[in-house]
Amino acid sequence: MASTLEVLLSPADYQARRQKGFADAVCVVFDVLRATSVMIEGLANGAAGFVPMEDISEALARRTRHPDALLAGERNGLRINAAQSGGVEFNLGNSPREYTPERVRGRIIITTTTNGTRALRACDSAPAVAVATFSNLTATADWLAKNASRHLVLVCAGTGESAALEDVLGAGALCELLAGWAREDSAEIARRTYLAARGDLLSAVINNGNGKRLWAQPDLREDVEVCLRRDVHPFAALLGPDGIVRRAV
Ligand code: MLT
Repeated sequence: MASTLEVLLSPADYQARRQKGFADAVCVVFDVLRATSVMIEGLANGAAGFVPMEDISEALARRTRHPDALLAGERNGLRINAAQSGGVEFNLGNSPREYTPERVRGRIIITTTTNGTRALRACDSAPAVAVATFSNLTATADWLAKNASRHLVLVCAGTGESAALEDVLGAGALCELLAGWAREDSAEIARRTYLAARGDLLSAVINNGNGKRLWAQPDLREDVEVCLRRDVHPFAALLGPDGIVRRAV
């Protein structure tokens, strides 16, 4: 049977698929702006692992298992504060520029974001879940070529309940790199979207949705360019059975 490549373009798609489960698939999750870009940046800078949580209370509860962990994430793009969490100031927001070696080396980071961590958790019935963005795209493609099974599902985390262009572009760029999989229409849609935009990804991203919102905020603008850097981190990352995202070995 041919290997098939599918892209889930929006939160509605992956939440519906979650009901059925992903037992037959290897998943690759993209939240280019910014959750998966943050995880790859943090791992590159020495973080021990990221624990993606769907909501703030779950993140706080998980810390009892990792008392030395940092708490991270965003709501409305900004670091979670005491008013939102019932009294706890989170240590980090969701800007990749915060995840410096000084702050993250050796640390477990429990994180909850609006879409990225939800998308990762939606896939946790899959036998393997990779965490991807532009910065580790080729390394992810290489890992998949060696390790992925028949059905590969690229999951676009989206923004709120909507599809996000930057995630479709990331998934499309990966479709372009992967040979040997038969592309379903969703994968062809993502690939063609990427091919049409690849000459100037930044313009495509900052003129739409989430990219436009981040670009309009002076403190967050630089994140967009950081999150679009291509292949600066030569490793794949995987969500393990213990719920922790680590570098693939
Ligand atoms: C998310 O998970 O929805 C994003 O990463 C949001 C953000 O960084 O602003």
